[in-house]
Amino acid sequence: MTNNLNCRISDQELIEIINFGNQPLGNGFLQEGNFNKEYFFEMKLGFCAESKMVQLFNQPKSEKMFNENYLFFSETSKYMQVYFEDLFKNFLSNDYINKNKFIIEIGCNDGIFLKHAAKNNIKCLGIEPSKNVAEISKNKGIEVINNFFTSKLCNEIINDHGKVDLIYAANVMCHIEDIKDVIYGASLLLSDKGLLVFEDPYLLDIIEKTSYDQIYDEHVYLFSLTSVEKLVNLFGLEIFHAERTNTHGGSMRYYISKKNNYNKSENALNYFNKEKKIDLSDVNTYFKFKKNVENSKNDLINLLNQLKKNGKKISGYAATSKSTTILNYCKIDSELIECIYDTTPQKIGLFSPGMHIPVCDFKAFYEAYPDYAFLFAWNHFKEISNKEKKFVESGGKWITHVPNVSLI
Ligand code: SAH
Ligand code: TMP
Repeated sequence: MTNNLNCRISDQELIEIINFGNQPLGNGFLQEGNFNKEYFFEMKLGFCAESKMVQLFNQPKSEKMFNENYLFFSETSKYMQVYFEDLFKNFLSNDYINKNKFIIEIGCNDGIFLKHAAKNNIKCLGIEPSKNVAEISKNKGIEVINNFFTSKLCNEIINDHGKVDLIYAANVMCHIEDIKDVIYGASLLLSDKGLLVFEDPYLLDIIEKTSYDQIYDEHVYLFSLTSVEKLVNLFGLEIFHAERTNTHGGSMRYYISKKNNYNKSENALNYFNKEKKIDLSDVNTYFKFKKNVENSKNDLINLLNQLKKNGKKISGYAATSKSTTILNYCKIDSELIECIYDTTPQKIGLFSPGMHIPVCDFKAFYEAYPDYAFLFAWNHFKEISNKEKKFVESGGKWITHVPNVSLI
């Protein structure tokens, strides 16, 4: 991997914020026989004073992360199923989607969102490079191009299908290193009044909650309104509306159109102001974040060591991609966390990236509760605490690191 030192938007030198050391792929759960072939990269977070974009210095090649073995399946979470169904209805009621419009989803994964369009006979197209999840979408009756979204592909789409009224993307824009090409492509693809709507984990939430586990190979950018506005402005686009959502630990949904189409909403103006007040444009904000991350790491290691010394059994709950950053940054192995329980059949029997903690079938969790369970899927706490009441009733305790290392 070449060592990138410059901002991908402005080409100015990046300022180093945190070095997380050598990290494996966040979703790189693997078999025991493959430990010696495991891939690592130096994961450093940087900030550009000009574009205001927070980004990784280096990101592994897209094909390494997004391929026929991709292990994230959107429909795993019941909460997310309802979330995308509600969003679809919301788009319908706002007339962003209707029978005369053509919509595209970037990173449609297993079809969790687009299946509603297909069911309602709305012309739609998914762009999904990971073959295994693209196939699941196709089986739901969705037309899918099994490829990465690029400006080149956009030209082909215009030739084959015409311009697009809505481009939607959830939890994928922040994955794409050549984001300038993506926004350029979107600017070509959109009809005059067309909308680009995308959502990703929000930088402000990450800073406020010290949720540094949102930083892993796939998330090459941590977006804010400030940085996204600067980026899309380069291609004749602007943010006109924004909505904060609770998913993935706190996300922001950006509504973007060609310039001078819509007035900026009060919501959008409020968030721009909030970001100014919190000084997201000032590098010192990120140095404070670094300090908080280091404190969080120390608190977590101390707590786990103390519990272990007292003879407690500690397991992990949910083998999330986010957990990879915590485990490898804090050097937590199976001595401290014996196993991680997960519901995804494809992950069960594998080992966690880097620290090689076994991933076990969640059913075994019910057979012998641990004393403590580290809640790696802290963003799904509501869903999990509801279904795991018995764990707590039988004396079990949750460990979380968000917003502070604590027991629940
Ligand atoms: N939108 C879904 C899936 C998010 S995971 C959700 O919010 O739950 C990110 C998805 O984007 C993966 O399925 C991945 O294969 C896909 N992806 C990654 N890079 C992409 C690119 N350049 N173009 C289109 N899709 C991409
Ligand atoms: P992610 O944070 O990378 O999206 O991964 C979510 C993982 O959490 C996925 O492997 C499934 C797992 N999970 C559970 O095991 N139990 C649950 O209740 C939930 C919500 C998720």
